[in-house]
Amino acid sequence: MTVAFVEPGSPLPPSSTSPAVESPNAGSVTDQALYDRVRRVIPPLEWPVHAPLIHEINRLKRERDAVVLAHNYMTPEIYHCVADIVGDSLALARKAAATEARVIVLAGVHFMGETAKLLNPDKIVLMPDLEAGCSLAASITGADVRALRARHPGVPVVAYVNTSAEVKAETDICCTSGNAVEVVESLGCGRVIFLPDRYLAAYVAGQTKVEIIPWAGQCEVHERFTGAEITDYAARHAGLTVLAHPECPPDVLGVADFVGSTARMIEFVRDRRPAKVLMVTECSMSDNVAVEFPELEFIRPCNLCPHMKRITLAKIRDSLLSLTPRIEIDPAIAERARRAVERMVAVGK
Ligand code: 13P
Ligand code: SF4
Repeated sequence: MTVAFVEPGSPLPPSSTSPAVESPNAGSVTDQALYDRVRRVIPPLEWPVHAPLIHEINRLKRERDAVVLAHNYMTPEIYHCVADIVGDSLALARKAAATEARVIVLAGVHFMGETAKLLNPDKIVLMPDLEAGCSLAASITGADVRALRARHPGVPVVAYVNTSAEVKAETDICCTSGNAVEVVESLGCGRVIFLPDRYLAAYVAGQTKVEIIPWAGQCEVHERFTGAEITDYAARHAGLTVLAHPECPPDVLGVADFVGSTARMIEFVRDRRPAKVLMVTECSMSDNVAVEFPELEFIRPCNLCPHMKRITLAKIRDSLLSLTPRIEIDPAIAERARRAVERMVAVGK
């Protein structure tokens, strides 16, 4: 098989997938070395399509002083071949706050681009496809939050980062699935409004004494998993370890061995090395983690996030070429939304 040339000096793909991972500043990486890394999850026939784009993106990143921040749900050719930082929503927010690059390319969904822009108002934040949304973010508006506050006067509002900047602006503090319990407890209150994910809210309620008032949103990817489906996998694969994302319904979490954010699931695999593992979350996660742990067997029930899958190498290349589309946020909204995100980033520091 012939693989297209990847320029020596291109960043090496992330060599590890823990919370936020920076690419080691490569000496040189050959085309073959890069492909060898991902061959387990990218068929040889596809590589000649990806390789020239990877080459071009890595060159454009240097020319534009850009970094690519990629969520754990990105496809392996993005995650392993062009990302500078990979991680869960919390890690991407933290790294977005710390980067010195002039341009940030957010390989993820729109609310992640907004979070990066809130933390970097003076930088260019590129969103390769502005239509990459999220069913949770779409489930609630700023007016809904104001109505909730009116119904529960004096009760603080915690917003999952999977919300628009307009919603964040109406809230007290943000959280991610990686720090939700910690954020809720950091407020020191007996009751908290928690939005918009009803399943994450139920999970948090089970982990704390704080009373949780939920909103009825849900993730269209995780809500489709069922406890019966996961139990069936476990019956067919002896010794299976089940890791589940807290956006899953309670019957799924009830049969899981471990519940955590995408980064926490990866940490679990790294620390415990379960011989056979099933990650109840978006499809690309298992592909990305399997690259790092070839000795482990990954059982893959697969639900795709159609929004995450809008981000492709070609769109990343195009956004770096044109420096568009950009995330822009109304300054009046941005100022209030930024406060909620910065409060979250400060928790646990
Ligand atoms: P985390 O990566 O923060 O666990 O979030 C999962 C998710 O659904 C992001 O859209
Ligand atoms: Fe939103 Fe769910 Fe897709 Fe994440 S996986 S972006 S929560 S729809």
